[in-house]
Amino acid sequence: MKKMKSMLAIAMTSVLAVGVLAGCGAGGQNNAGQAGQPAPAADQAQPSGATKKLVMATSADYPPYEFHDLSSGQDKIVGFDVDIANYIGKELGYEIEIQDMNFDGLIPALQSKRADFVMAGMTPKPERLQNADFSAIYYEARNTIVSKKDSNITKPEDLANKKVVVQLGSIQEGDAKEMAKTIPGMQITSLNKIGEMVQEIKTGRIDAAIIEDTVAKGFVANNPELQFNTLPDAGDNGSAVAFPKGSEHVEEFNNVIKKMQENGEMEKLIKKWFGE
Ligand code: ARG
Repeated sequence: MKKMKSMLAIAMTSVLAVGVLAGCGAGGQNNAGQAGQPAPAADQAQPSGATKKLVMATSADYPPYEFHDLSSGQDKIVGFDVDIANYIGKELGYEIEIQDMNFDGLIPALQSKRADFVMAGMTPKPERLQNADFSAIYYEARNTIVSKKDSNITKPEDLANKKVVVQLGSIQEGDAKEMAKTIPGMQITSLNKIGEMVQEIKTGRIDAAIIEDTVAKGFVANNPELQFNTLPDAGDNGSAVAFPKGSEHVEEFNNVIKKMQENGEMEKLIKKWFGE
């Protein structure tokens, strides 16, 4: 458990550090390791016989799912999703190349075939099903309200006349808009990176954020002035792999996910990253 904490501490620091280094720019990619123009998804133009490569797009602001680990002196994207992707790649004989971008750019990256799949703690919500195909759900999470401990904000009603931040293009953005219909004066801001959202709460410019429990937990552990409270009817936010519509990879990915659930590998990774 101690190990888990220090690992998350590194994660949080990395997320902030990268946010600053990258200037938190809007749109596009800011993986320090991936300079230049996005190449077309690798598996289209492979000479036959070469190791097949699949491009995975993600938004690496989401510890413990995916985040920048700078602890080795190098900028590496690691996390639960990355481990699952690498396992699947190994099973199916693909090399996995990771491209980091803003969360709201992920589905467009699939649509324009710049990525073969997305793993980003992404939930297969109905609107997304029109633009992407999804694997089976591999992990469940719930929404929480993150706020300062001294804020008295613990439940939805407390968000009346408050400023609330959510990640641009996330399920939480839609959920917050839904909540605002019945909570008077609740104002919503959308930002690209979770690290920036947490920063806004710490400085007091924003009162609260809607963030998934598994991610909120880590940020709160590293910022003792913050708290999180699970939303009552939090609706499930399962994570699944997203693919371009009609992708040939859905079935083979599903087969490996099923295998991982049966052979204990998934449980092992859940313990490793979520400590459960
Ligand atoms: N599960 C939520 C969604 O699908 C949030 C995911 C955010 N992921 C990230 N890598 N920032 O909208």
